[in-house]
Amino acid sequence: MGQSVLTPGVARVDGELYVDGVPLARVAAEVGTPAYVYSLARVRAQYRRLETALAAAMPDITHRLHYSVKANSNLAVLRTLQECGAGVDIVSAGELHRAREAGFGGSDIVFSGVGKTAEELRLALEAPVLFVNVESEGELRLLDDVAGALGVTAPVALRINPEVTVENPHAYIRTGEKGHKFGIPYDDVESVARLAHALPHVSLVGLDMHIGSQIATWEPYADALGRIRPLFERLRAAGVDTLRWLDLGGGLGVTYDAEAPADVERFAAGVADAVRGLGVSLVFEPGRFLVAEAGVLLARVLYRKRSGGKEYVITDAGMNDLMRPSHYQAYHRIEPVRAPAGSLIADVVGPVCESGDFLALEREMADVAPGDLLAVHTAGAYGFVMASNYNSRPRPVEVVVDGDRFAVATERERLEDLVRLERAHLQWRSA
Ligand code: LLP
Repeated sequence: MGQSVLTPGVARVDGELYVDGVPLARVAAEVGTPAYVYSLARVRAQYRRLETALAAAMPDITHRLHYSVKANSNLAVLRTLQECGAGVDIVSAGELHRAREAGFGGSDIVFSGVGKTAEELRLALEAPVLFVNVESEGELRLLDDVAGALGVTAPVALRINPEVTVENPHAYIRTGEKGHKFGIPYDDVESVARLAHALPHVSLVGLDMHIGSQIATWEPYADALGRIRPLFERLRAAGVDTLRWLDLGGGLGVTYDAEAPADVERFAAGVADAVRGLGVSLVFEPGRFLVAEAGVLLARVLYRKRSGGKEYVITDAGMNDLMRPSHYQAYHRIEPVRAPAGSLIADVVGPVCESGDFLALEREMADVAPGDLLAVHTAGAYGFVMASNYNSRPRPVEVVVDGDRFAVATERERLEDLVRLERAHLQWRSA
């Protein structure tokens, strides 16, 4: 049942949507809606697809995929990628905790992020992580202090802002252009690198970049690598002899609508050519590419409504469950789980009390009725992880499918969870 083993994931079989061998209607009947449902087979297949392309293009270059935990951080997905052989890229103490719980060792972890606290740096060094991607001189000095206090040497990669043009669907997911908050401005890198080389409790082991997300073309990477390679060479010429890692971040795009997916063979071959002879090991930090297409958000139609000549489909999933449409004007394909006849043009909206609460606007879609189930596609990345409790809505359940079995990976929040950390009886402290 379900899709062929070659392309696991979401497919229609005899008029019904399945995730691999499991009918989505069955999942909804058991765990309710809204629900995120992920194909573990698809996650494994995406990992293999990228790793195979890299291995073929760079048999001579040591490399590892460090899954970017922020894309989808439940323990079941993390464990699946750990079993595939991945490491992880984390950006907070919370993600460190998840990674450890999922079984990743310290050396499987790189720690990124523009605003790490002293406490997070301490936890990173205690792990100890493979390296910390440092994004400013201030962070470098703090890390040196924290490492000194612990009596260790901190392995550091400097995150460079290569200051290139990144073409992708939204400004919020570009991170490598001049003036962005991320990374060390290109012209400052050499002085910060010299400082890193001189400080007593850090060792400058690599350079790092991450230029953005949902990038479909090779050019921005080519431009960025073209700027990083000479930096490596200049630093080595200046006596920095400890550099052995190059972390190229994430960013590979997937298909939400009709976009061409990232050409991973082109990417792998381009990277291999750009770094050959540099004598470094590579780290990649893919997030979206590994999980986006493995997941759907399953929602139920609550009502139909006409207003001002417009059709509305009101569902039990809203912007708090899937923020991407309202936050980035992102497109997600929406399909009924059982295909009804006829079509209409409608706004698909949630129950949240904001006009910005939508999953799709002016969408040509199936003529669904209250009670019908909808699948919102390509929701495996940046879906559940960005969900909130806005309007005091419990966050949805996460379900994983493996072949013809399924399991709850994250239980649906209950109403009592919403107030679990709150105090009805305040304990006042005097100032
Ligand atoms: N490495 C770093 C340092 C990152 O900041 C990110 C994503 C990644 C790796 C993974 O990038 P990916 O392979 O997933 O493109 N919430 C947005 C996406 C934000 C991406 C943030 N950084 C969205 O829903 O489109």
